[in-house]
Amino acid sequence: MSNQQALYVRKHIFSGAIRVFHWLRALSMVVLVITGAYICWPFLTMPQSSDVLVQGWVRLAHLIAGFILVAVTLVRAYLFFFGKSDIERRSFKDVISVKAWVAQLKSYFWIGQHKHAGVYGPLQFVSYFGISVAAAFMCITGLVLYANVYHQGLGGLLWEPATWITAQMGGLAVVRLWHHYVTWAFVIFLLIHIYMAVWMGIRFKHNSVDAIVSGYDYHPKDGH
Ligand code: HEM
Repeated sequence: MSNQQALYVRKHIFSGAIRVFHWLRALSMVVLVITGAYICWPFLTMPQSSDVLVQGWVRLAHLIAGFILVAVTLVRAYLFFFGKSDIERRSFKDVISVKAWVAQLKSYFWIGQHKHAGVYGPLQFVSYFGISVAAAFMCITGLVLYANVYHQGLGGLLWEPATWITAQMGGLAVVRLWHHYVTWAFVIFLLIHIYMAVWMGIRFKHNSVDAIVSGYDYHPKDGH
């Protein structure tokens, strides 16, 4: 047994499905933010130009990533509620416990350790829940925009609910604006999420970024 193994405990926390969907979600979000930014500001072609091919390809990439996000959002919601492991669901206990919130906030200032009922801390759980709701919102508004461009097939099928949602939101321009505004939530989330994932691993001396690749967490044996 190596020294490392003697000091750390290994625990399987993320299933293969959770890991695959995490990275699919991450990839689709990055592609959607970049291609979305280009769709709203197509700087590669002159305004007078009749060349719409660049915009067409970027829009195609946006839609492919968009439909991946729609699928992942649905499957991920299913796995959260009905997945075999309850390690994510258990975290909800901490969200409704004031003690858990105080312990987590204190641990950020190096006062004490954080112990979780599940795999996430309460602040982490709330921010993941928020970004999942934002993803669902982007999928709905994205599909409304899609139905307005493609009137056949799926677009045609979605036409009725899309017109209803458009009316509730106050018109297509408003749908587009909200689809645009909420994009910033992903930019901000991605930056903080990556920073926190790396920082948590260093602060609490356990696997953090690595765990969502290998599925395994390592904790120091002294119980933190
Ligand atoms: C993280 C998720 C997403 C982000 C960050 C995002 C971002 C954007 C942005 C910034 C725009 C440009 C808005 C503007 O013109 O000001 C856009 C347009 C659009 N998005 Fe998304 N989007 C996301 C998800 C989706 C999804 C899931 C779909 C559909 C499956 C979708 C379909 C569309 C369509 C059809 C347009 C309009 C394209 C056009 O006018 O040529 N988006 N998106």
